[in-house]
Amino acid sequence: MLTLGIETSCDETSVAIIEGDADSGMTVLSNVISSQVALHAEAGGVVPEIASRAHLTMMEPVLAQALADAGVTGKDIGAVAATSEPGLIGALLVGVSAGKALSVAWNVPYVAVNHMEGHLFATLLENPGLELPVVVLLVSGGHTMLVAMDQLGSYRVVGSTIDDAAGEAFDKVARYLGLGYPGGPVIDRLAKEGDAKAIRFPRALVGNGLDFSFSGMKTAVINYVRKHPEAENADLAASFQEAVVDVLVAKTIEAVKVTGANAACLGGGVAANSRLRERMAQACKAEGIPAFIPGREFCTDNAAMIAAAGAWRLKADGPSGLDSGATPSGGRSTLFA
Ligand code: KG4
Ligand code: ZN
Repeated sequence: MLTLGIETSCDETSVAIIEGDADSGMTVLSNVISSQVALHAEAGGVVPEIASRAHLTMMEPVLAQALADAGVTGKDIGAVAATSEPGLIGALLVGVSAGKALSVAWNVPYVAVNHMEGHLFATLLENPGLELPVVVLLVSGGHTMLVAMDQLGSYRVVGSTIDDAAGEAFDKVARYLGLGYPGGPVIDRLAKEGDAKAIRFPRALVGNGLDFSFSGMKTAVINYVRKHPEAENADLAASFQEAVVDVLVAKTIEAVKVTGANAACLGGGVAANSRLRERMAQACKAEGIPAFIPGREFCTDNAAMIAAAGAWRLKADGPSGLDSGATPSGGRSTLFA
């Protein structure tokens, strides 16, 4: 069975087609992602109205490309899944409306998907045999949490940020240093030319539970630059990134040990970070913990993960009503125990 997924919660218009589901194994037939980064760069952040309009413009061409890449037509699709929460309401509504329209046109079920559950399913796209329970470090622009994935559909947040999300910290530090937007990829690139040991930034809350705090690390960078205006941006980027990665890796390993999980997994946009991927793989190997790190295109926002979560939700809960809507917040309260 083929599931078509749609993702429009923020600034990526994406349509994907997958075959199968998390129980039987999945193959990604297509995963087309149209990024709006260039449209929002001037403002230095996502402008909701611009995002909604760009989703409207891109929905049809992205859909056509996803069908063409997969070599299928609407007649071959068995279900349509769309992100319905959380996200920018105007942006979400474009994907939800498109999903419902296709479900009516093709006479197949429509299923509403929680974006965060999509990020959790990204790991399963490439590792269908993954034995739960696992711990997933979910790090995006809006969320930083350690999720104990006990079973499909059964998730516990065992640690989360008490202030900024990790991606938000990357974006804010990059903005302060005048490096452009979005900050994560820019810092990732620039850090490769810098010395990660040049400056010792604080590792907040390490050895003190599973919660995170990133706002003090951001302030530490700002204070350092005020005192040392001559500091090289590459060294600042590398040293800041190293501090964030140290905390993320240490707490993920700790969460696996505390919960007795089988493996550590990564999800969310920050999981595309080269240093985090490298250090997580090394640390897990040293501890004898299997690590599952999705390909970069499945870490940042994409519709393949939405199709994966949707295919499973359809089996578990049945279709969503065509009168179901979109919810800007509420992802955490409805999804996690
Ligand atoms: O999951 P995502 O694409 O969208 C949300 O659901 O938020 O995550 C976006 C976040 C942004 O803060 C961006 O700066 C960060 O992920 N990001 C990265 C990298 N690529 C994206 N952070 C660090 N290194 C990267 N390579
Ligand atoms: Zn996301």
